[in-house]
Amino acid sequence: MKFFVDTGDIAEIKDLASTGLLDGVTTNPTLIAQSGKNFLKLIAEICEVVDGPVSAEVAATDYATMLKEGQKLAKIAKNVAVKVPLTPDGLKVCKALSDNGTQVNVTLCFSSAQAILAAKAGATFISPFVGRLDDVGQDGTQLIKDIVQIYKQYPNFKTEVLIASIRHPIHLVDAAKVGAHVATIPPKVIRQLYAHPLTDKGLAAFVADWAKTGQTILDAA
Ligand code: G3P
Repeated sequence: MKFFVDTGDIAEIKDLASTGLLDGVTTNPTLIAQSGKNFLKLIAEICEVVDGPVSAEVAATDYATMLKEGQKLAKIAKNVAVKVPLTPDGLKVCKALSDNGTQVNVTLCFSSAQAILAAKAGATFISPFVGRLDDVGQDGTQLIKDIVQIYKQYPNFKTEVLIASIRHPIHLVDAAKVGAHVATIPPKVIRQLYAHPLTDKGLAAFVADWAKTGQTILDAA
């Protein structure tokens, strides 16, 4: 499973990139607004920090303007993945950009029918928003299971399932169980993945018991 971080916070991106576990980054207009940074400059900076796909979302909603915006974003760096909304015009842009070799992340996916359209439009990634479905009482993880199962029926579908809107580690684990290709994870949730009280307790005991030996490793002959 590839791990992308879902943020526009360059300090968080740099910190998580240093773990060696980061395969890409996703942003969206909300995350860009929260960063307070210049959008194009921030995407360029992120693309220098992370070699993997960096999703940069168009702002327009009409075909002609989204296409021009997407073409401009794609020129920032070779690892830019242009993000477009799952609308008729967004998928027309997806088809045009992907036919031209640009990576496209189709976002705001909430149904299997939408995911089928995105695959047919040549999307590199499809982003089902599991958390937002859960927020309205629908089963976001079930959607991931359905999309993965549908895509498996068609070898010519090259679109990777990128689980988004992750609220907690179980969203990621459940998606991994069914073979989602990518998870884009808020920094807070990435840190939750590491955490377990029994790990902390066990390590403290190892440290204390080692200290009782009076030995060191590095100074030993
Ligand atoms: O990449 C999409 C993601 O940022 C949406 O997450 O928490 O706004 O539903 P959220």
